[in-house]
Amino acid sequence: MSIQSERTERTKEYCNDRFGMFIHWGLYAIPADNEWIRSRNKLSIEDYQPYFDTFDPVNYDPKKWARLAKKAGMRYAVLTTKHHDGFCLFDSKYTEYKATNTPAGRDLVREYVDAFRAEGIKVGFYYSLLDWHHPDYPAYNDMHHPMRGNDAYKHQTGEHFERYVEYMHNQVRELLTNYGKIDIMWFDFSYGDMTAEKWRATEMVKMARELQPHIIIDNRMGGDITSAEPEFYSGDFASPEQMIPAWGVRDVFGNPVPWETCITLNNHWGYSAKDMNYKSAKNVINMLMECVSKGGNLLLNVGPDAKGNIPDKSIEILTEVGVWMRLNSEAVYGCGIADIPKHDWGRITKSDDALYLYIQDTCCENIALYDCPYKAKGAVLLADGSYISMEEPWNAHSYKANGKKPLFMETPEFRNLNGNANVIKIYLDKE
Ligand code: GLC
Repeated sequence: MSIQSERTERTKEYCNDRFGMFIHWGLYAIPADNEWIRSRNKLSIEDYQPYFDTFDPVNYDPKKWARLAKKAGMRYAVLTTKHHDGFCLFDSKYTEYKATNTPAGRDLVREYVDAFRAEGIKVGFYYSLLDWHHPDYPAYNDMHHPMRGNDAYKHQTGEHFERYVEYMHNQVRELLTNYGKIDIMWFDFSYGDMTAEKWRATEMVKMARELQPHIIIDNRMGGDITSAEPEFYSGDFASPEQMIPAWGVRDVFGNPVPWETCITLNNHWGYSAKDMNYKSAKNVINMLMECVSKGGNLLLNVGPDAKGNIPDKSIEILTEVGVWMRLNSEAVYGCGIADIPKHDWGRITKSDDALYLYIQDTCCENIALYDCPYKAKGAVLLADGSYISMEEPWNAHSYKANGKKPLFMETPEFRNLNGNANVIKIYLDKE
């Protein structure tokens, strides 16, 4: 089997799930001002130490997080087990820089895995390839390291980088051995010549697949997932960030490549006390439907605070998204590209036997669906199953485009069932 068809096989369920929760949580929740704070402010390990000494998430209850994800309709989650600062939420035997040694005093990853599993949500691990704590990671000459260009770190240029890579492999082995079944491994990220075999990527992917045969891996260890012959380590899905690719993601042959965009709820990944610039529920639903209509997933981020609480505003938005999902998730799960051009009123997704018209902007009593290669049997409002008339407006025949006859859907009875957009389900005639 080619790498591409293996990838398609492996990602089937993941691509059906469509909606996941990204969780950025670590020591950086304490300064509450971006997970890059060490790099931005050029903080040394010592400068950062107070956050280690006071990391005391007394309200950490991942069951609450998992219930929220479930309520929002999210089917998988990805937690930062280690971010660029090198701090581990898990009890690794290869470092002392871990939650176990803070006031938290325990393995926080274990509780996350158990809680999300219990809700039937798939479990993913984010693991940073960068590490600003490990002494063998290049510092002085690295473009991102907090101690870049700092003369006191002139000696730290990655001379023994292989020791760091060994450390990283050991930790990934721990993560994929000690926590039962893991569904997703999310490496972050490659840059410049810090890519691919620099991380011993082939070996890493081999190990991951040996330990967890079903695991889905992102594409940030390097390589080109869209090329004619993708590298073994080029991953199972593309991972655009803070954007939705205009045409989805396709390979050089034009075939769809699994992808997932990760997007923040406000403008930060880690908890930010000042950032109240949140997206609305409607905005989130729009993004989700845009992703699905282009054959992609949405990994939506929350940044719990230092005590372990997901911010109230995030809870409010996700709860509202959940209300919409309860009525409309059929247009999301197991759906993808419909091969119909984008329409002014919204987005179209398709399952094996139905089309879903996501009416983002209604304009008047009828909407038209044109260039539809399928035959329709009938239409209903997805939220409550009520009938949608497909009768042509009386003089519509005078206004055909290129002689082509669109399908019409009568929309005046749209109920504002949840304050957010409606979906029309069209049953397809498969004969
Ligand atoms: C970037 C950032 C990082 C964040 C990630 C999420 O790579 O470095 O802070 O975790 O994107 O995709």
